[in-house]
Order: sequence, then structure tokens, then C-alpha cells
Amino acid sequence: MPASKKRILSGIQPSGRPHLGNYLGAMRQHIEMQKDFECFLFIADLHALTTVHDAKQMQENTYNLAVSYLALGLNPEKTVFFKQSDISEHTELFWIFDCLVKMPFLERAHAWKDAKAKGKKEESAGLFNYPVLQAADILLYQPDLVPVGKDQKQHIEMSRDIAITFNTTFGETFKIPDPLIKEEVAVIPGTDGQKMSKSYGNTIDIFAEESELKKQVMGIVTDSTPLEKPKDPKKCNVFNIYKLLATKEEIKEMETKYKKGGFGYGDAKKTLLAKILEHFKESREKYKEIYPQKDMVYSILENGSMQAKKLASKTLKEVKTKVGYITR
Ligand code: ADP
Ligand code: TRP
Repeated sequence: MPASKKRILSGIQPSGRPHLGNYLGAMRQHIEMQKDFECFLFIADLHALTTVHDAKQMQENTYNLAVSYLALGLNPEKTVFFKQSDISEHTELFWIFDCLVKMPFLERAHAWKDAKAKGKKEESAGLFNYPVLQAADILLYQPDLVPVGKDQKQHIEMSRDIAITFNTTFGETFKIPDPLIKEEVAVIPGTDGQKMSKSYGNTIDIFAEESELKKQVMGIVTDSTPLEKPKDPKKCNVFNIYKLLATKEEIKEMETKYKKGGFGYGDAKKTLLAKILEHFKESREKYKEIYPQKDMVYSILENGSMQAKKLASKTLKEVKTKVGYITR
């Protein structure tokens, strides 16, 4: 790989099936960037343990996510694709960082504050320490950029702070990475209009069976404007999702229909469903083709882990020396 290429790194939790928000906010960028960047991408199964406490579910989610990326066009020759739990350096570096960060710094994290605001009193220490592990994930690979959706902005900023703290305490070691967030797809709305998220049950799952996908699209929340009346497209969830996948002409056409009246939300939903099926046609077929090929999928991840380990162990060795652990 030419040294001039900038390095990107990102991770995604195997906490459920990938949805349109994951795809547009993050996965699509990861795949597009393979052309021009040196890419590291991992399945964040250590982070997923903060919420998934069922071995079968963890395995299934991990496998589905790996197949999803491959079906969407991830090329293992171009991207180092691996499982976080295969690289023990992540948890080792996590501990070193955990001894540097202060509790009030972690108390400011949105995910922690949200959990507290919801009145959850007995959250795991893992959830509290989540951003520290994420900093270890990132900094081990010395990336230039971290492509993510907007909800991850704070986590990347915290990783930068942790890198600076380490560098000032023990000497220049880590590159300070920048987040890469595409503004136009920063927050994809879900079927109820709030941010699409597995935790809100408002997702459109790109690899769901057609009947289920239909149920999700038909379930998009709309107001009660009657069919014949003109409607404001900007205020409609169906339109707001449609415009993320449709061409300029298609968007214009739907906008005109909304404004004219005589076009119901049911019609709009049918058009959206057809658009989703068309957009993901090839990937959905590939998903079905790859899914039974377990050996191939596992070998891709194992091979990725071998490559990731080389870089991660190099960085960790330097860190251990810097903190004063004897390494020979
Ligand atoms: P979820 O909120 O469904 O649990 P994750 O936290 O696993 O999603 O997110 C995986 C990646 O997808 C992250 O980079 C995140 O920023 C991005 N992402 C998730 N939901 C959205 C959304 N609604 N809009 C834009 N990006 C999103
Ligand atoms: N916290 C991220 C999410 O929920 C997943 C993640 C873990 C990650 N480690 C990372 C993303 C490192 C980017 C870089 O989506």
C-alpha cells in the first residue's frame, strides 16, 4: 500500500441488524473510502457486550454484520476487516488509558448522561468506560480520520483528548485523529421521525426479508392529512427518507405530487419501498449468496485480525515502553 495514502479506521457494534441509518451515516462511506484510503474496519463486539448478554445473539449479530459489509461491497483485499475481540491489545491499551482519565471526564459522555437521565441506576462499569475502550480502538492504529455518523462525534473528541493526555504525560506517541462526518447524512430519521436507532425500534433494516421491510416502511409515522389535500413534503418522514436514496428528478417528482394533492401517504410509502428494494437489489442478492459461506466469512475476519494485530502490537509495545514497563 503506498505510504502516501491516509489511513482511516472505524468500528460498528454488532448490536442488531444493520439499518438505513447505519448504512447512510457510516457503512456506505467506509466502503466508498476503500478506493483512496488505507482502511481498517472492525466489528466492535467488545463494546456490544455492554448491551448484548446472549452468546447466540452475539454470534448471529456479528456474523450478519460481517456478511452485510461484504454484500455491500467491502473488499477484504483493500480493507483490513476484523473482530475487535480478536485483538487483545484493545483491552490492554484500554486499561492504561483508564488509569489516566478522570471520572468527571467520563461523566460528561452523552451515552452515560442519557442512561442517567432515563433513571437507570445500575448501569455497568463497561458503559461508563465505553469511550475509553473506543479511544484504545482508534489510537492503536494511528489513523488520520475516523468516518462515523454524527452521534459518534463526542466519542472521537474524547479519543483526541485521551491521546493528548497520554502524549503530554509520557511523550509524543499518538497521532491525533479527526472525525469525518458527512453533514448531509449526519442524522438519518427513523420511521417515527427521531434519529433512526436500534434502541428506538424505529429502523428500516436493509437486509430484512421483503415482507418485513414492507411492514417497517408501511409503519412510518405520518400525519392525518387526507389523501386529496396538498401536503408539505419537508414535514413528512416518508419523503425525508426517500430523498436520501432517490435521484434529483425523482425527488422533484415526488415533491410535486405532495404539493398538488391527490397523492396519499400510502402511495408515497409504496414508492419508497420500491426505491429501497431497487437501491439494495444487488447487495440483497449478494447477502443471500454469501450467508451460507461461513468458512469464507470467518477466514476473511481471521486474516484481517492477523494484519490488524501487527500494527496494534507495534503501537502497544511503544506505549508499554513509554509508561515504564520493561519490554525486551
Ligand atoms: P444504533 O444507534 O442503531 O445502535 P450504532 O450506534 O451501532 O447504531 O451506529 C453504527 C454507526 O452508524 C455509527 O457510525 C453511527 O454514527 C451510525 N449511525 C447510526 N444511526 C444513525 C443515524 N440515524 N444517522 C446517521 N448515522 C447513524
Ligand atoms: N461506538 C461506536 C458506535 O456505537 C462503535 C465504535 C467502537 C467505534 N469503537 C469505535 C467507531 C472506534 C469508530 C471508531 O457506533
